[in-house]
Amino acid sequence: MQREPQPIPRHVAIVMDGNGRWAKQRYMPRFFGHKQGVDALVRCVQACSDRGIEYLTVFAFSSENWKRPEEEINGLLGLVLVAVSKYLTKLADKGVRIRIVGDRSAVTDKVRSAWDEAERRTAHNTGIVLSVAFNYGGRWDVVQACRQLIEAGVGAAEVDERALSSRMALAHAPDPDLFIRTGGEVRISNFLLWQVAYSELYFTDCLWPDFDEAQLDAALAAYAGRERRFGDVKARSAHAGP
Ligand code: FPP
Repeated sequence: MQREPQPIPRHVAIVMDGNGRWAKQRYMPRFFGHKQGVDALVRCVQACSDRGIEYLTVFAFSSENWKRPEEEINGLLGLVLVAVSKYLTKLADKGVRIRIVGDRSAVTDKVRSAWDEAERRTAHNTGIVLSVAFNYGGRWDVVQACRQLIEAGVGAAEVDERALSSRMALAHAPDPDLFIRTGGEVRISNFLLWQVAYSELYFTDCLWPDFDEAQLDAALAAYAGRERRFGDVKARSAHAGP
């Protein structure tokens, strides 16, 4: 008997947690875990694309990560340059469109131009949209959107959810259907606060560098079993958004 096709989320957002512990388990420095984390991310982009997911948004560096030791921060900033030079061509050739979301004003010129290049070279691609949240915080996002409204002279009566959403950093994407956090913590940690209002949440103990296709499929299976109601009493068909 043929089974109904499983509903696939259009947009998956991931907090890629656990790199440090993954490295520690191997008596390696934390940076080694982050490096493996980049490889896991590239594999995940492909796996999501293969499954028909249209948008993948990942938390690569939070507004709060500046509190980490300087050596780790520099390692993560340097990793951006390594990741772009190692993987940009591959991702671009596969049709991935890259968007960077977050406050670019605080990052170094080199990192800024690497991000600019990643966006420019993939701007016309039509495959999965990979949004990398870097120096991003959900509260920062709400504040910067409010500032934009004020700067544009939008009057109080015109401020509504649509007006704010259109100024948020992820205005180019629908709200995430599925929010995944690896690494065992059960919290949102100032990721997409505004956008996850109706996302299905999925937490796994798997450390990010170990997040593979089987892990992704487990998250997708959990999602497929959820009933999405968006505040209604009846479930919406086909996991459609509000
Ligand atoms: C959390 O693990 C992970 C981060 C703060 C960084 C995530 C970054 C990557 C996966 C690399 C992607 C980078 C680019 C350039 C796209 P943690 O350090 O908090 O791990 P722990 O909880 O085990 O200490």
